[in-house]
Amino acid sequence: MPAPARPDVLIIGGGLIGLATAWRTARRGLSVTLCDPEPGANASFAAAGMLTPVTELHYGEELLLGLNLDSARRYPDFVAELREASGGADPGYRESGTLAVAFDADDRAVLADLHEFQRSLGLRAEWLSGGEARRLEPMLAPSVRGGLLVEGDHQVDNRMLLAALFAALEREPRAELVRARAAELTVAGGRAVGVVLEDGTAIAAGQVVLAAGCWSGQLRGIPPEALPPVRPVKGQILRLAVPEVYKPFLTHTVRGVVRSNHAYLVPRAHGELVLGATTEEQDYDTSVTAGGVYELLRDARALVPGITELPLLETRAALRPGSPDNAPLIGPTALPGLLAATGHYRHGVLLTPATAEAMAEILATGSVPDLAEPFSPLRFGK
Ligand code: GLY
Repeated sequence: MPAPARPDVLIIGGGLIGLATAWRTARRGLSVTLCDPEPGANASFAAAGMLTPVTELHYGEELLLGLNLDSARRYPDFVAELREASGGADPGYRESGTLAVAFDADDRAVLADLHEFQRSLGLRAEWLSGGEARRLEPMLAPSVRGGLLVEGDHQVDNRMLLAALFAALEREPRAELVRARAAELTVAGGRAVGVVLEDGTAIAAGQVVLAAGCWSGQLRGIPPEALPPVRPVKGQILRLAVPEVYKPFLTHTVRGVVRSNHAYLVPRAHGELVLGATTEEQDYDTSVTAGGVYELLRDARALVPGITELPLLETRAALRPGSPDNAPLIGPTALPGLLAATGHYRHGVLLTPATAEAMAEILATGSVPDLAEPFSPLRFGK
């Protein structure tokens, strides 16, 4: 069925957040058009797909933790429904658990501190000696000083998840994907009423959603008070292949603190190993640098020396959408008819189900679910 000339909802941005919001909103009975010249090509494609609210906990982010945990809990049902809606595509969700390990005594102190913080919040994490960690993951370096086992922190293969969302949207009669760039927001009578595409085509819509990651504030015509304060935070990330002879190389996601740097290794079921990631404030630069690749390999090798044997498949850099408080922007902006679903920074993949569900509820009913209230885009205007 062709999409209606004036969809109920127009979503700008086809990363995981935009695609999942389109799918959940169409399921609520609204017609949805999503615009993106290259959907699924940026941060959502580069990401490692860690679903690690407990091991990726930071001081001062207690409120965000509630949303992160809620979204992690939603994952099993979300992927089951997506598998059905997509006609059987496997979204790549894997309950593999996560092991956070320390390289030296100072790094061990950092992890001990994290463990104390986790326990103060009632989170489940088990402290392991170096020997216990190596019994779980024999490829860990003999020097690894111990770590934290978090059995509830999992992973999803973000590329398989993207493919499943594309397949589900393809089968959804109320959704349409337009492979074009939205150039300008149309505002009339004090509200957002649609967009004009780069080729001049105008699309009118009942509501407009900014879900273009760190580019969400770049659409022309957004009034200053409604601009989402997002910025690009570069991450360089590598993919290695695990040949049959080395399998299973790792069974858990391994996060590590190495001389105060943070590193992670995420083993995929199909044999890839994802190594990440740098965190760089470099504006919109997405070059892969020798220094970035060197640091990632150096730190990963300190934890798991055997990685040097693995073929290097891919180097990539992408841009996380950072916000002033590192938490997402979910819900209505200061301009009636214009909403935001962006600013997910380090947790875009994890927060996909909770964000999509909250956005679908807001778009369908106008009311913001309690859990999403603290993440109102309006909090930055105050
Ligand atoms: N959450 C992983 C990263 O942002 O690199």
